[in-house]
Amino acid sequence: MKDKTPTAWKFVNADAEFTVRNPERTSYLYFPLTNDGGLKSSVTPELQGDAKVDQNRFLLTPVSVEDLHHSSYGRNFWLHDDCGNTWSVNGRSPAQRQAVGTDSGDVVTLDAGFLWHRVNRENKSIGFRAEVTSFVPAGCSPVELMKVRIINIGDSSRRVIPTAAIPIFGRSADNLRDHRHVTSLLHRIYTTQRGIVVRPTLSFDERGHRLNKTSYGVCGADADGSLPVGYFPILHDFTGEGGCLDWPAAVVENLPVTAVADRYFEGYEAVGAIRFAEKVLAPGETAEYLLVLGVGESEYHREDWEYLDSAAFDESFTNTKKHWREKLGTLNISTGNVDFDRWFKWVTLQPVLRRIYGCSFLPYHDYGRGGRGWRDLWQDCLALLLMEPDGVGELLLSNFAGVRMDGSNATIIGEKSGEFLADRNCIARVWMDHGSWPWLTTRLYIDQTGDCEFLFKDQVYFRDCHIKRCREKDERWDLTQGVRHRTKSDKAYQGTVVEHLLIQHLTAFYNVGKHNNILLEGADWNDGLDMARDQGESVTFSAMYGGNLLEIADILEIAGERIGKTTIELGQELAILLDTTGSGINYESVTAKRELLNTYMNSILPVVSGRKVEVTIAEVAADLRRKGEWVLAHIRKKEWIRNSEGFSWFNGYYDDGGNRLEGDHQNGVRMTLPGQVFTLLSGTATDEQVSGVVDSVNRYLWDDAVGGCRLNTDFGEVLMDMGRCYGFAFGHKENGAMFCHMAVMYAYALFARKRTEEGWKVLSGIHRQSMDFEKSRIFPGIPEYFDARGRGMYSYLTGSASWYLLTMRNQVFGVRGCVGDLVLDPQMPAELFDEAGEACVETCFADRQLRIIYCRKSGDAGKVSRVSVSGKDVDWEMAEGEAVIVRSVLESLQADAVHEIRVELN
Ligand code: G1P
Repeated sequence: MKDKTPTAWKFVNADAEFTVRNPERTSYLYFPLTNDGGLKSSVTPELQGDAKVDQNRFLLTPVSVEDLHHSSYGRNFWLHDDCGNTWSVNGRSPAQRQAVGTDSGDVVTLDAGFLWHRVNRENKSIGFRAEVTSFVPAGCSPVELMKVRIINIGDSSRRVIPTAAIPIFGRSADNLRDHRHVTSLLHRIYTTQRGIVVRPTLSFDERGHRLNKTSYGVCGADADGSLPVGYFPILHDFTGEGGCLDWPAAVVENLPVTAVADRYFEGYEAVGAIRFAEKVLAPGETAEYLLVLGVGESEYHREDWEYLDSAAFDESFTNTKKHWREKLGTLNISTGNVDFDRWFKWVTLQPVLRRIYGCSFLPYHDYGRGGRGWRDLWQDCLALLLMEPDGVGELLLSNFAGVRMDGSNATIIGEKSGEFLADRNCIARVWMDHGSWPWLTTRLYIDQTGDCEFLFKDQVYFRDCHIKRCREKDERWDLTQGVRHRTKSDKAYQGTVVEHLLIQHLTAFYNVGKHNNILLEGADWNDGLDMARDQGESVTFSAMYGGNLLEIADILEIAGERIGKTTIELGQELAILLDTTGSGINYESVTAKRELLNTYMNSILPVVSGRKVEVTIAEVAADLRRKGEWVLAHIRKKEWIRNSEGFSWFNGYYDDGGNRLEGDHQNGVRMTLPGQVFTLLSGTATDEQVSGVVDSVNRYLWDDAVGGCRLNTDFGEVLMDMGRCYGFAFGHKENGAMFCHMAVMYAYALFARKRTEEGWKVLSGIHRQSMDFEKSRIFPGIPEYFDARGRGMYSYLTGSASWYLLTMRNQVFGVRGCVGDLVLDPQMPAELFDEAGEACVETCFADRQLRIIYCRKSGDAGKVSRVSVSGKDVDWEMAEGEAVIVRSVLESLQADAVHEIRVELN
């Protein structure tokens, strides 16, 4: 009788390390291992998964999520013994797989922490236990390390023959389908004293056929210091005629090695198959083997050998744990729910992972070629600002170099910060929401740091063949001109950060469709809304741009006051966009808006004049307010819909036929979550409308079975006038899944509108669903979405993690900046306080590490009544219901210490 019951993981200590029994009874589990040197690995409980540096340098064979179970190109390690047993230390032999869940099956547990992974597997009838520890050492070495411990748990001595068998892919992921065999002919395979190295002659990839300089190695050693006895470097020799990696002839038949050190082979699929010396293990005795999987430039990977020593391995392991503990230590929470705090720690890891892996390179993320998109680039900086604020100012400034003067932006982001590449393939696509995100991040930066000068720093603009928001192609433009927008005198034109922001928002303002909302173009936040390029409109992001216009006006005025500036310089052409500083146009007229935009677009082509005009901040702010208020009023009035059941909410979209998307429909009610999130967040929704939205979301989108609110209702058909996402099955990804990013932004918006209870319901719902292992089947953290069955999908790499951190810290704990001053405005439900009535967040602000402890009298968090630092009362004031401590008070505290701020609440 097979026992298939999954066992949930549980946290084992304050470092949020966790353990899970029987992990092999759950599908699709994987764990990331990585470092700053760029090795990006994924490992499963059966030690499958892959490892790569980038799209063109895969050390292990690339895997998608399904391959985790059906392919064995992972980290295999075999034992053959004198009783004729063949046992896979990673559980892959047919007999072991068949025995999963039976009395004769292996007993497996998995332990993991930041960022290490250990699988313990034992089989009493076979008489062995194995413990495999894997990690990628902190620092810059592109290597993954493994230590395999074998223990004789039987009662008699056993002679064992261990063999590691890790196939080396050694080429571009593209070659998995494109010329897989031909590219194996490029392989040059060397055996060394410690392992096997593959150094292909050429690399076949999109860059053409080049001489290859990268080598890929698997090296190993017995921890007692003895060298491997030999190798089976050619995959086919190892598996044998008719054999396979799950039952390889070399192991099963205990074949003699096919190579010793210093041999050379060419033209075959390679495997890091290392035969270690036979060993007799007495009962209770242990043997240890060390393995290094590495990518490098050197021919023999000798530099990797330093890890082939137990002490070196252990030291590196300790350093790696310390590295991650420190990196993630800048943001901690301590509430009445210890499990929540520990789960949150794993969420703080996720933005770091996304900066390393981009939106590719984990098994679900089998698209893209590495790197991130524009939207993700800016949103990941939100988390960076909270966790590693040093140098973020420069990073943001360099990102502004990707903005085009038509308000769109570069979509190909280079490896280095601030590097944007021309789109050589000329794929013209504009995501209309892109222009709105830099302001959010800039706002957070200014609030955190008070660095008002930032707005007035200069930066260049991006230019390539795409002009007029990708509606036209500039045939005269060629790559030799570089990627800068130039002036008549052929200089790279520069404008201030605020000028970049104005261009992004003002061009959007005028770029409207027939309902006078901003055009959807190639899509908005929802990448799947990609089939309404001509007439589609996004009310959703019209609201966001409108709200931003009002915020920019406010911050510009405050910044001007703080640094004694009353005017700003703008490129001469921008005056066209600031219409109210001249005669002004009628905003009700779609034609007038489009004409004005066209005039501006023509004025910047092919180059700009380079001349600047001076405008007063007061004039600019007034212009922005007029526009922002117009947008908000327009949406409040024209897009607020009411259906036959008496529910009201905002229509978020128009399709390519110019038809309104949301409301009653013969297939059922049509409603989207994004349409509500950004109208709440931007202040478009009145308080009454907020209530209407909340009721409608609860009525049409909330589903306890998936842990929260879905992205949309079931439209019941493929909307060819809206986008590919409606071709997806309902309840999956961008078609009606519980998509965490949008759900968390909804929570953020609810808190921003002081709807504490509803906001917390969304955040705690995501936490609960993630922790409900039987349904979600994921390790701690937030997945991109929960599918129709409530399963967590696309683990680790998701923008929702940044937003979850931001929402917890800035809204729930209410610890946030306001142009450099510290605001304390908690919106915490009673359940977050511990038995002593306290809850704490540790975070960095004004270059100080602060431990802010809220002490409440009873129930939910009330208003602040007293603030003390290290026992002494400090100055603070109540402004618009929020407690504010001015920055200078914090700056007077010692810089490199942790300061305890006790905040008493009514
Ligand atoms: C992903 C993308 C994000 C996009 C979203 C919806 O979300 O990374 O840019 O807006 O899908 O299409 P994420 O994986 O960040 O949760």
